[in-house]
Amino acid sequence: MSVTPPASPEAVRSLIARHATWYHRIELAPGIVTPGIHDSPDLLRRLDALGLPRDGSGCRVLDVGCRDGFFAFEMERRGARVVGIDYADPKATGFSIAAGLLGSDVEYRVDNVYDLRPRTHGLFDLVLFLGVLYHLRHPMLALDRIRSVARPGALLFVETVTGEALRTSETPVWEFLPHDTLAGDWTNKWAPNLAGLLRVIEECEFRILASATTADRAVVMAEAVVDVRLAYYRRLDASTGLLGRGPAVEGWEDEPRADDPRSTAPTSRRPGEPA
Ligand SMILES: C[S@@+](CC[C@H](N)C(=O)[O-])C[C@H]1O[C@@H](n2cnc3c(N)ncnc32)[C@H](O)[C@@H]1O
Repeated sequence: MSVTPPASPEAVRSLIARHATWYHRIELAPGIVTPGIHDSPDLLRRLDALGLPRDGSGCRVLDVGCRDGFFAFEMERRGARVVGIDYADPKATGFSIAAGLLGSDVEYRVDNVYDLRPRTHGLFDLVLFLGVLYHLRHPMLALDRIRSVARPGALLFVETVTGEALRTSETPVWEFLPHDTLAGDWTNKWAPNLAGLLRVIEECEFRILASATTADRAVVMAEAVVDVRLAYYRRLDASTGLLGRGPAVEGWEDEPRADDPRSTAPTSRRPGEPA
């Protein structure tokens, strides 16, 4: 974080008042918190209980759909180098105001999750994917793109709405939400039950480490693994050259061997663990 001279409480309040639609509740000066509609400290408590590293030093963190920046700033405070992406301009959200007041060095990129690429974004040790999945029309594609920028062994934290009717089923199910059927919001598209969420995350080359639910939301911690079989089917589905391929997938008829030595989960250092 950069060192910035502290602003007076009046100046902080006046800057906060310039943004009408705060989403996050961020403490920008002692006792002065942005009036967000989202209980960000509560979600942080749930992520901490699941295993979010307290020490982010040495870690490169990606916050997908970072909005006003609460979680990106928190990981920066914990010592990580953080990139936040969101397809919203940071001046259209509270991010620019909050980053300025905190003296934050979080790198903000106006970007779409579907455009994540290792070549342009590099690799990350920890990815936060909070409150975004259920807004997406292509949730598995988004997870594939996230997996493409996750180092083997990287931690992924997903938080999402869970499906109304099917929440308790053991069968993996995703409920489609046409039009504005969830909370009158046209941007809500898919709500999985917990089994559906876990199985889809696994299918995108992650191993589930922990999960927890509330009445209508779930949080999941997973680890990026290398599984040639899953990677093969991700590649078959990625006709846009995501993994460095053109539209024709070479050798598509050759199934990868399940006993390929690369298909085991790597043991790499976890964020927060000593090197
Ligand atoms: C409900 S907010 C969640 C904010 C924060 N991650 C949290 O959990 O508190 C969803 C955010 O994701 C962003 N978003 C939605 N779809 C996106 C996409 N395809 N690519 C990048 N950002 C997206 C929105 O602009 C918004 O800021």
